[in-house]
Amino acid sequence: MPSVSVFGAQWGDEGKGKIIDGMARDADVVVRYQGGANAGHTVVVGDAKYVLHLIPSGILHPQKRNVIGNGLALDPIKLVKEIEGLRERGVRVGPENLFVSARAHVIFDHHRLLDKLAERWKGDGRIGTTGRGIGPCYSDKAARTGLRIADLLSADCCRERLSTVLKEKNALITKVHGADSIDLDREVERFVELGRILAPYVADTGALVRKAYAAGERILFEGAQGVMLDIDHGTYPYVTSSNTSTAGIAAGVGFPPNRIERVVGIAKAYCTRVGEGPFPSEDHGDEGDAIRKAGNEYGATTGRPRRCGWFDAVAVRYAMDLNGADSLVMTNLDVLTGFPELKVAVAYRVDGELVSEFPAAATDLNGIEVVTESRPGWTEDICAVRQWKDLPEKARTYVEWVESLVGVPIELLSVGPERDQLIPRK
Ligand code: IMP
Repeated sequence: MPSVSVFGAQWGDEGKGKIIDGMARDADVVVRYQGGANAGHTVVVGDAKYVLHLIPSGILHPQKRNVIGNGLALDPIKLVKEIEGLRERGVRVGPENLFVSARAHVIFDHHRLLDKLAERWKGDGRIGTTGRGIGPCYSDKAARTGLRIADLLSADCCRERLSTVLKEKNALITKVHGADSIDLDREVERFVELGRILAPYVADTGALVRKAYAAGERILFEGAQGVMLDIDHGTYPYVTSSNTSTAGIAAGVGFPPNRIERVVGIAKAYCTRVGEGPFPSEDHGDEGDAIRKAGNEYGATTGRPRRCGWFDAVAVRYAMDLNGADSLVMTNLDVLTGFPELKVAVAYRVDGELVSEFPAAATDLNGIEVVTESRPGWTEDICAVRQWKDLPEKARTYVEWVESLVGVPIELLSVGPERDQLIPRK
């Protein structure tokens, strides 16, 4: 696997952490390229459970190098806490195996505060963000008023840039939102200190990844969130603020797109979404509740109950197409055990016409009719199954049916949170 992109093919929370942790065994460098601490990648190792928000999921393999690319909206407070938390649990994290881009944008207190304040003003149009400051940080990046990790490494530079930025932000915070202003001196002191702690990790990560690839090392790109939350291709405006699809790698790492050799999507055997926005295959009834219960569907970052529904083959086919996916990994298949009937959204109907393309605008999704089909479920516990042939026939039929709908091979199935609860197809 010289270079592989792994992305979420739904609305995030597809179980990428576990799959990337597994694939990291065959990688030399694991790279995050977008998003920030809005992500929560869960990896279970024996009795220990790790939830990684910023650090790539390769960190649990001590010999791997892990890169936080320039495309992240990076909260240094959260990063330092995550490093310390992992170290306390005996995980090796140091400047020899974690590299942070000097170009990554910094999330400050005003970003987190404005994220929450802005949501309040949106009323029914609120996005239901994670409140981690992601949108405001990326807005500043685009407006060219953001500070990058490199700017924290010099107290003078940090003060100069932040004093200009905070003048406008404090006017907004106090005069528009009526909240308390942020103190410049305190912010400079705290963030310069964070810069001092992170300085040993700071690197030209784009050059590092390109050189590693040129030297024949194996690179694994770890997507966060999912394609349907992509700022350009997702259910805008109910999306996150980064390119969550494979296209985000080129800009978010500084890696040539024509050197990405394999593309793997991850999707749950059903579908979930946190936050507001369209979710065509959502089940508002008892079955949605039953999926939430069986899958323990609560956010890894915010603890919010996830909205639950059936596998949406239209959305996942779109994600496969958009990303040029070579294959799909299906996670949480075990969660469907015991459901007598398994539904799948196979098409949408707009004004009576069947549509095969995912509609471009969130508003276009309001009036659609979702066409579902179903297959019978199975009752046998499949958590201990490790080979395709040992799965109940109805489970195999379900997987093969979904595979035929999404248009790429399903190469691997996950049947539980543990590292070894995997079923390869071949
Ligand atoms: P933000 O990324 O915090 O701005 O949130 C924007 C939308 O993306 C909200 O609906 C969030 O719930 C959703 N979101 C952000 N990160 C994740 C994630 O890692 N998993 C699932 N949903 C996410």
